[in-house]
Amino acid sequence: MFERPQSGERAILVHAGLAGAPDAAEREEFAELARSAGAVVVGEIISGRQRPDPRTFIGKGKLAELREAVVANDAELVISAAPLKPSQERNLESELRCRVIDRAGLILDIFALRARSFEGQLQVELAQLKHVSTRLVRGWTHLERQKGGIGLRGPGETQLESDRRIINNRIRQLMSRLEEVDARRAMNRQNRVRAEVPTVALVGYTNAGKSTLFNALTDAGVYVKDQLFATLDPTVRQLELPDGRGVVLADTVGFIRDLPHELIAAFRSTLQETREADLILHVIDASDPHRWQRIRQVNTVLKQLDADKVPQIRVYNKLDKLAPGYRISARRPNEGRAVRISAKTAEGLPELLQSVATRLPRKIQQAVMHLQPAQGRQRAKLFAMGAVLREEACEDGGWNIELRMGERDLQRFLQQENLVNCFLQPLPESAPAINH
Ligand code: GTP
Repeated sequence: MFERPQSGERAILVHAGLAGAPDAAEREEFAELARSAGAVVVGEIISGRQRPDPRTFIGKGKLAELREAVVANDAELVISAAPLKPSQERNLESELRCRVIDRAGLILDIFALRARSFEGQLQVELAQLKHVSTRLVRGWTHLERQKGGIGLRGPGETQLESDRRIINNRIRQLMSRLEEVDARRAMNRQNRVRAEVPTVALVGYTNAGKSTLFNALTDAGVYVKDQLFATLDPTVRQLELPDGRGVVLADTVGFIRDLPHELIAAFRSTLQETREADLILHVIDASDPHRWQRIRQVNTVLKQLDADKVPQIRVYNKLDKLAPGYRISARRPNEGRAVRISAKTAEGLPELLQSVATRLPRKIQQAVMHLQPAQGRQRAKLFAMGAVLREEACEDGGWNIELRMGERDLQRFLQQENLVNCFLQPLPESAPAINH
């Protein structure tokens, strides 16, 4: 549809950050992103500028250097780590005679490659079209030439206008399809809430091992690949915890630093699984030397999604890759609970499931119990547990006690005290969940 230079695989990466030269980790992450999109990195240019050149972002000298590198390396694509304005992208393309995209464009491309479910594909296409539509502006003169052919154009319609019209129609179409899909997803989620099946969401930096863990836990055969963003669509499966409770496990999209806004918006409904989860398993690649940075970056995205209040377990994965005896100082202040596993060898998975069972909010039971005069000790115990809402002395010298406590605590108490047939009212089937 667009007559921009054709894109290819041979790419030159440009770091022209305003905040000084990027560190090695940032450069490696960016190169890894590019490789994820199928690019072959043939060169890298680093430039530091106080202020971006309004026309081409990088200055004249760097532009000449970049042009030489493009020619010398037969590059077909230039990828800028810094965000480019649409006009800068176009000016660079006409100067360099090769396709130019920025980080947001690159990530959209990766998402487009990896989206597997119908919903994911719709979301990515929508995000891409929105991204592209901001790049269709006047001044892109060769797009404005008259289009020929009877029936192919309105009076005086230019290529630019018809491109816009096609894009806008498609955007509208996608949005209405997504609304339908969203409604279905919301209904599924509601059914789960009604059935009181708690949701556990797997989140983590891309490549941390979420899909591998998801598979190991559910045996679901989700697509796993050693590439960034192998998972784009949350996949949900039922899982049974050691205490017999059923939960829904949701695999979510891999997070990345500075996720483009178009994508956060596009995946908002998908990521809602995370926001509405009862518990988040934050999967961390324990063998990644930059894991602390990654943890912070994931938490930043969680905050953007309003999911930072959901209880979290940190799951340090890929233990098998660490040297024997290597210890991760997993616990730092305010970091919550941590579990160490290897999704690959299944080491630590029983402990992880146990930890999920312990951390998951439990159902609360409210009921009225009758205790005999000889059961004063049990009565005292209920008071000590803070479970008594109110009590009433009975004519037989015993008590009717209205109590409210966690389902598991109640079951344990009944078992320990060997209490049977002590309820005056049947226990309610379900009660609202609260956090312990
Ligand atoms: P995205 O979908 O990109 O977000 O990735 P992900 O977090 O779902 O990661 P995935 O499960 O696709 O795993 C990424 C790579 O790490 C794959 O090559 C896995 O085989 C590997 N991997 C996952 N868990 C382990 C582990 O416990 N040990 C080792 N050695 N490799 C692992």
